Amino acid sequence: MKRQIGIIGYGNIGKCLHRRLTDLGYSPNWIIYSRQDVKNQYLIPGTSLVFLAIPSSGNGEVARDYILDAIYAGAKVITCEKAALAYQYVFLQPHMNDIKYSAAVGGGTRMLSFLRERNALGCIEEVNFVLNGTLNYIFDLIAKEKFSLQDACSFAVQNGYAEPGATDPLSIINGEISDVAKKVCIILNTEYTKNNSTTPQMIEQALTLSKADLEQLLLPGQMGRMIISINHHEVLRNRFLFGPNPSSVDYVKHFQFPVGDYIAFGGFLRKKTDYIDSSWFPTGINNAIQIIERHEHVSSSDRYVLSGPGAGAEPTVSAMITDMLEFIEEEK
Ligand SMILES: NC(=O)c1ccc[n+]([C@@H]2O[C@H](COP(=O)([O-])OP(=O)(O)OC[C@H]3O[C@@H](n4cnc5c(N)ncnc54)[C@H](OP(=O)(O)O)[C@@H]3O)[C@@H](O)[C@H]2O)c1
Repeated sequence: MKRQIGIIGYGNIGKCLHRRLTDLGYSPNWIIYSRQDVKNQYLIPGTSLVFLAIPSSGNGEVARDYILDAIYAGAKVITCEKAALAYQYVFLQPHMNDIKYSAAVGGGTRMLSFLRERNALGCIEEVNFVLNGTLNYIFDLIAKEKFSLQDACSFAVQNGYAEPGATDPLSIINGEISDVAKKVCIILNTEYTKNNSTTPQMIEQALTLSKADLEQLLLPGQMGRMIISINHHEVLRNRFLFGPNPSSVDYVKHFQFPVGDYIAFGGFLRKKTDYIDSSWFPTGINNAIQIIERHEHVSSSDRYVLSGPGAGAEPTVSAMITDMLEFIEEEK
């Protein structure tokens, strides 16, 4: 039977999806171009797959309703939108077999599949992430290319990397922090615990920079890397017992929340430290995940790194199309 495909949202991602799907012989049957375009009966009967590419704004209720409407109508959903999975997970959780969301975290890297695969082996000791390509890009330009903050931010805006709306450096950076907060909650919700009580607002509140914080990050020799870690309690306890307290010494703004057996921790790392391996930190717009595994009876640990473009239409759409091919494979 011919697959009926719909796209909701026709901006950078929706347009790129349309072109790539058509090239692959999966031309969409219907598209909702804009919020003005939504009618009562927008889901064409027989739709089997809906791609959702609307802005990740607000508390995700709009995206949640699109996702649930599609699922109740018998379709599968592939989304790159972040707010629904971050804020509305409790409603989506019973339907997660019908939702794929690789592109919502890590752009084209599909880092969540990588994490899930390694997690299945039960040997993970520590997971570290760089989740926001724009912040990485801005602070990379400042540290390595000696750009001013203003120029680095202007470059990010010109290249379409920054969240829409923000113009001055502080609001551009704080806009990206809101993106990080949603991604952390998606990771906690989907990969760690079904009862996650950490909300994006809690993370955002802890990380939002004041002008003075930003000035600190710009002092000579500062790194400005937004590093997120999710570790087993035990790992962090050992680290805190035997080393300095990372939260007060090495980070400008940080959050720390217990999540089941884990602690989620993150902030702007000021500079290289002895106990944080920086060899895996990505360059430019890239995102990365580092997984450290320890095996019983072996004293050393194994380190795995996955890195790649964390933003941009082509990598994001590649991740969504891979999700579609997975759904097709699962149906066989
Ligand atoms: N761009 C990237 O690199 C990237 C990477 C990963 C994930 N994402 C996620 O992908 C999503 C789309 O990003 P984008 O860059 O394509 O955004 P965009 O260029 O702003 O496009 C969004 C599209 O959705 C439409 N839209 C907005 N609200 C709608 C609604 N309620 N119903 C139907 N259509 C609606 C917009 O049209 P109107 O404004 O006319 O309503 C516009 O056509 C976002 O959630 C973003 O976080 C983007």
